[in-house]
Amino acid sequence: MRFFLDSAKLDEIDKAYKCYGIDGVTTNPKHIMNSGKEFMVAITDIANWIKDNHLEGMDKFPVSVEINPHLETAEEIIQQAKKISALCENFVIKIPCNLEGVKAAKLLEEQGVRTNVTLVFSPSQAIQAGRIHAKFVSPFLGWKENSGEDTYAYMAQLVNIYKEKGYETEIIAAAVRNGKQIADMAELGCDIVTAGLSVYEESFKHPFTNYGLGVFCDAWDHTKGN
Ligand code: E4P
Repeated sequence: MRFFLDSAKLDEIDKAYKCYGIDGVTTNPKHIMNSGKEFMVAITDIANWIKDNHLEGMDKFPVSVEINPHLETAEEIIQQAKKISALCENFVIKIPCNLEGVKAAKLLEEQGVRTNVTLVFSPSQAIQAGRIHAKFVSPFLGWKENSGEDTYAYMAQLVNIYKEKGYETEIIAAAVRNGKQIADMAELGCDIVTAGLSVYEESFKHPFTNYGLGVFCDAWDHTKGN
């Protein structure tokens, strides 16, 4: 299972890539806002970071960039998606899973522009992404769990449907909030998880690891000759 970082902050992307080798990045309008940069500046900086790290190529290090969420027609979405995708070969265009979004994503995929169908909250939405051959589909876990819904059974169903139907679209378990969800998605055979830096860093920690370090430090300090 691959790890994507959910962020548009260059320092976070650089840290996660260098410390534990993330496999790609996902952004959304919230992450762009949190970067403190204008949209075009934020995505151009990411494109330049890709070059500096010799990661050119969508299969090497895909970066999902979301279109202006105010766009309502497939024609408007397609126009902007083409402009964004022309900026960097690693860019995958995130498009919301609604009627115009699916229509736009289908046409873009037919024209070679790769898409990530996002804001997915049900298996029937995810099926559409598979049917139109989107590169990625992004079911959001955290948002569903916040509203009291179970995401394990939901993702199990989704992964099974994709296997059964042979869809090539890769599933990104998105808005992942903790280590349990990361492990659950790995167990279910999900292709990718995307989470923020703090989620990954918390998932590497365990109180017993610190306790064990204390025990071993004590032993080290009481070892003859130390
Ligand atoms: C993923 O592609 C989304 O950008 C992301 O996971 C959305 O969730 P969040 O911004 O609430 O973490």
